[in-house]
Amino acid sequence: MREWTLEERYRVLQSADEIKGLHEALLGSVYRQKYHIQPITGLSSDPNGFVFHDGVWHLFYQWTPWGAVHGLKYWYHVKSTDLVHWENAGVGMRPDRDFDNKGCHSGSAIAEGDSLYFFYTGNHRDENWVRTPYTCAAKLDENGVPVKLDEPLFGPRDDYSEHQRDPKVFWVEEKQAYYIFIGAQTLDKKGTVLVYKSPKLLEGWEFAGQLNVPGFEDFGGMWECPCIQRISGKDVLLFSPQYTTLPGRGNSTNHNVYLIGSMDYDTLTFTPDSDYHYLDYGFDMYASQLAANVDDPDKAILIGWMGLPDNHYPTEEEDWEGSMTLVRELRVKDGKLLKTPLPAMNELRNGTAPEDGTLPAFCELEVSFPQGETEDSDLNLFTKEDGTGGFTIHYCPHKKKLWVSKKDLDKRFNENVFEELEVPMETPLRTMRVFIDRCSVELFINDGEKTFTAHVYPTEREHFYTKSDNVEMTIWNLNESVKDDFVV
Ligand code: FRU
Repeated sequence: MREWTLEERYRVLQSADEIKGLHEALLGSVYRQKYHIQPITGLSSDPNGFVFHDGVWHLFYQWTPWGAVHGLKYWYHVKSTDLVHWENAGVGMRPDRDFDNKGCHSGSAIAEGDSLYFFYTGNHRDENWVRTPYTCAAKLDENGVPVKLDEPLFGPRDDYSEHQRDPKVFWVEEKQAYYIFIGAQTLDKKGTVLVYKSPKLLEGWEFAGQLNVPGFEDFGGMWECPCIQRISGKDVLLFSPQYTTLPGRGNSTNHNVYLIGSMDYDTLTFTPDSDYHYLDYGFDMYASQLAANVDDPDKAILIGWMGLPDNHYPTEEEDWEGSMTLVRELRVKDGKLLKTPLPAMNELRNGTAPEDGTLPAFCELEVSFPQGETEDSDLNLFTKEDGTGGFTIHYCPHKKKLWVSKKDLDKRFNENVFEELEVPMETPLRTMRVFIDRCSVELFINDGEKTFTAHVYPTEREHFYTKSDNVEMTIWNLNESVKDDFVV
């Protein structure tokens, strides 16, 4: 792993020419994704500013231009009309003010009338590297570029730690007011959410209080990227708790969870109906964000970062790292979220591939497991020609569990965090849609009851699969849907 100095990580991008070479170099990578959003150069992390406006879906990602390292963060802009085909739209927000001198950190968007507004964290550091996080806003101009307000909307509260960031803005009809949720940490290092309120978007913000979430007063040390949305009459609170391990999540201290319950804006209390749920059971999904201005009371649109904050991935050697997950539709069913691929993903299908034991580099597998089956089932992806190794998926109907392991792949990574995970299966395994791209696998289990997201970096010899006889599978070739153009 390359060592980076602080100067290198926080270098300001002056011109596109400075990173053209980096972009050209990564175009040759066998791990460049074909239908997932990925960094134009360097590193992509959290999705930001996800919104539908005027027929276009806007999305930004946290971006370090210089390499596979967290450093000075920009918002890089991508656009789509169907959430499946994406094109690069250039740098969205640059850390070019004193209040965001060390990064435009995560945030959200909202469309209002003809205008599109962005809310983000200006990560300011002084000469002693002391951090002050500001909540800042910007508005899209007629050239499609976010233009910042001259001053932040508000600064941090001193009765919480320096961890106050990731504003999620939304309108609450019953209160006729806008709200912002901010991910935060109390002075005694407990994760929480701070709530701000205003009748207007760009002024009048006041601190309303700390969100009460009964039963979750001591649940991780920081709640990054909080989001809330009403789906089918239920409130869904989504966040990424850190600095704690959770059952079934190995040694990871970064998680993405949700609660379903009801939100009372008078008392600022979110009352969960039940315990927390993992948003995804895989190795690599974090800092997910719900899209704003989705005009359907029964569904939400979600995207996540395919990666975890402290993890390292093999493409670091190629000076780039990360991608977004596929966009997912969320619905509430039986007190949980169903997470399904977009219907438009079917349009990427381009005929079937022969079921001869070889795996295309990017494809979709439509898998079914016979009902009433009492035998175990196996599906091993990216095996070697002799069927050994691979990314293994094992299901046991008696134990009601699915085991997924990446430890037998040639390229091992994040071994100290986890390489094998279990997925509890409350209902028997019936179906799985498996989306394979050049460095990722996403499992949608039982029509979205569970998902499992993982990076994988198969070597040249790892492009075979094996399965047990009781598993039926169709392999769909897919068309490409992201453009790897150099737009800065
Ligand atoms: C989550 C996060 C956010 C922060 C951003 C900085 O991964 O730590 O809390 O705004 O990344 O890149």
